[in-house]
Amino acid sequence: MEKMWSGRFTQDASTLLEKFNASIMFDQKLYREDIEGSIAHAKMLAHQGILTDEECSLIESGMAQVLSEIESGSFEWKIGDEDLHMAIEKRLTAIIGEAGKKLHTARSRNDQVALDFRRFVLRKNREITGQIKALMGVIVDIARDHTTTVLPGMTHLQHAQPINFAFHLLAYASMFKRDCERFESSAHRNNISPIGCAALAGTPHNINREMTAQSLGFDSVSINCLDTVSDRDFALEILFNISTLMMHISRLAEEIILWSSYEFRFVELSDEYSTGSSIMPQKKNPDVPELLRGKTGRVFGNLMGLLTVMKGLPLAYNKDTQEDKEGVFDSVETAEISLEILREALKTMTIKPQNMARACKLGHLSATDLADYLVEHCGVPFREAHHITGRAVARAEVLGIDLSDIAYTELHAIDERIKEDVMPFLAIEHSMNARVSQGGTAEVRTLEQIIYFDHYLKDIK
Ligand code: ARG
Repeated sequence: MEKMWSGRFTQDASTLLEKFNASIMFDQKLYREDIEGSIAHAKMLAHQGILTDEECSLIESGMAQVLSEIESGSFEWKIGDEDLHMAIEKRLTAIIGEAGKKLHTARSRNDQVALDFRRFVLRKNREITGQIKALMGVIVDIARDHTTTVLPGMTHLQHAQPINFAFHLLAYASMFKRDCERFESSAHRNNISPIGCAALAGTPHNINREMTAQSLGFDSVSINCLDTVSDRDFALEILFNISTLMMHISRLAEEIILWSSYEFRFVELSDEYSTGSSIMPQKKNPDVPELLRGKTGRVFGNLMGLLTVMKGLPLAYNKDTQEDKEGVFDSVETAEISLEILREALKTMTIKPQNMARACKLGHLSATDLADYLVEHCGVPFREAHHITGRAVARAEVLGIDLSDIAYTELHAIDERIKEDVMPFLAIEHSMNARVSQGGTAEVRTLEQIIYFDHYLKDIK
């Protein structure tokens, strides 16, 4: 097949090279960005007197036809066309003739791909942010119903202090809010137009980069063409942002897996979002959170992959950068489906407050409260209070009960400064509600956090 760049060549490319060199199998995903970018470029060329108005409108109507062919599935993607840029331009020329051949004036595929891919990534930054906010909305709605549902807060995966379930969920809302901010700040930082950089050094044609930038919704025009055609920071950033998002998702997924086990039974996933075993008829498996945890691996891999492609690349464009797309497409798709299924799985998950409450009776969760009581009400220095409490815990262990159920007389026998007024301090709810410091788990503080997130999410309601 004759290539658009074949002027200086005397032999056809080998089919092996065609296959190896092509990106058309995957970069066709950028067709929208490519067509919009070409139309903006053509309009600018016409405005500058480089194309006639007739040529520009031919390009516009031709591109409308190309777009509809692509969207209806009748467009033929051929490996011999190498990439979508050439396939689209070739089809345009077949439809409109000579004017199609003028479109590439003052442009190179180097700034063209930089434009298309950057705009795709900017769009995905926005879409993923919207999806994270929708997930946060579901989390906050569940939290609203569980500000008094106590469960053991853990450190080292050991029972530590009682907290409420809303407080626990809102920890994830906090992570996801940071994720939104990361996607948004990346979109803001990278909203800079590459079009008009041409191959690497700019162009002698009298173009107007401000105009294309503005019509495509960019905040500004890039500073240095040499940098711009080989800059893939925006792609690295979305890969990092998705990696961090998926790392957060994997932590929640891990907790859901643990909570669904018979050892915990704090939650039960709906049948709709659970799977069975092919051999064990009784099983209901948490495949959804397991896959969420597992898919985190591939998005980390995609980040490492592109960092490695970019490392040590000399200026400016090198074909290596064609390897930038598949990893980003894969990470974006992974993030999108993960956010969607996590949202649905959470919405339909049953929460079991009784089992959480039962777990609070294991592990002497109110031990810190006894120590705090000794400090505040008996004037005992904290280190000594810690020691006395340790003895009380040992006594409860001997009696085979939880510290929250120990009799006052047992405590008084350990240290006579402990009075009967200690009893409320040992209750699990009291312990949770005592933590009133800012950002703490007390119900009043948790309610403040719900208001905070409601305010953050007000635009999605
Ligand atoms: N398919 C190429 C890519 O994805 C487009 C740019 C090619 N430019 C070039 N001069 N070969 O990077």
